[in-house]
Amino acid sequence: MIFVFSGTGNSYHAAKRIATALECDMVEMAAAVRYKRTFYNASDEPVGFVFPVYFHGLPSVVEEFLSTVEVRRPGHVFCVSTCAGESGRACEQVQEILGNRLRVDASYDVLMPENAVFYEDVPGKDEAKAINDAADAAIDGIISSIKAGEKGDRRTMAGSDCFEKMREDYEDFRFTDRFSYDENCIECRICEHVCPEQIIKVYHRKPVWDDAMCSMCMSCVNMCPKRAIQMGDITKDRGRYFHPTYYMWSLGVTPPYKREDFERYDKGLR
Ligand SMILES: Cc1cc2nc3c(=O)[nH]c(=O)nc-3n(C[C@H](O)[C@H](O)[C@H](O)COP(=O)(O)O)c2cc1C
Repeated sequence: MIFVFSGTGNSYHAAKRIATALECDMVEMAAAVRYKRTFYNASDEPVGFVFPVYFHGLPSVVEEFLSTVEVRRPGHVFCVSTCAGESGRACEQVQEILGNRLRVDASYDVLMPENAVFYEDVPGKDEAKAINDAADAAIDGIISSIKAGEKGDRRTMAGSDCFEKMREDYEDFRFTDRFSYDENCIECRICEHVCPEQIIKVYHRKPVWDDAMCSMCMSCVNMCPKRAIQMGDITKDRGRYFHPTYYMWSLGVTPPYKREDFERYDKGLR
């Protein structure tokens, strides 16, 4: 059983690759929080948590999920953090929050393309492809390690000398009033569909962030086909990124939903 949270598809891709190799089911953590689903029976199968690193730690919705989840009959338990260079203390947080409810046997991190457009520009198509190809090889290594039942801390980008400060910054940062849409909005509602926490609602055909705070997954900014969603002024002249195999399950489109489909939106062929 693989529990996943993903904003722009990196973690979803990693989780899907692992779940396919281990023949496990996937559970989306944001949806589980929404539906208040806390109890799972793993039937002695492996249990994995796959998520992106935010501000050297966990996305807030993952913290929320972990604070109540109960897993009966867990097999080998592992976590995989996807990050753009520093996986910080996210995996330590998983164990801290789970406490005695579940013991994590192994922790991994995977370098994947940056999606934090507010922080720095995202990689271009070629650079992102090179990073994703290397990530696939790393994920396959993780799969072999999980299958072999290897234990311990297997991360290569972990550690943070400013963890407390980063987490304070995250709490200050994740107010949705930072988001806005501009004149390029074509009212396609993709932002509403891709928001994993379902915080964006479309009223009068335009997006409204209907909660004061969110996890800041950046899916709305990165996946708007017209680059019409901004975070302050900083994202206006920056690129956008989402994983090329991102399965947009929430759009109800037969997966895989590919970049070309976005380009069709771009040309107005909806
Ligand atoms: C709010 C936010 C904070 C982030 N903080 C970090 C960080 O502390 N360290 C890091 O290496 N990457 C950081 N990133 C980059 C993501 O962890 C990385 O791109 C991840 O693979 C995205 O996964 P996803 O596509 O599944 O959402 C951050 C991204 C966001 C949106």
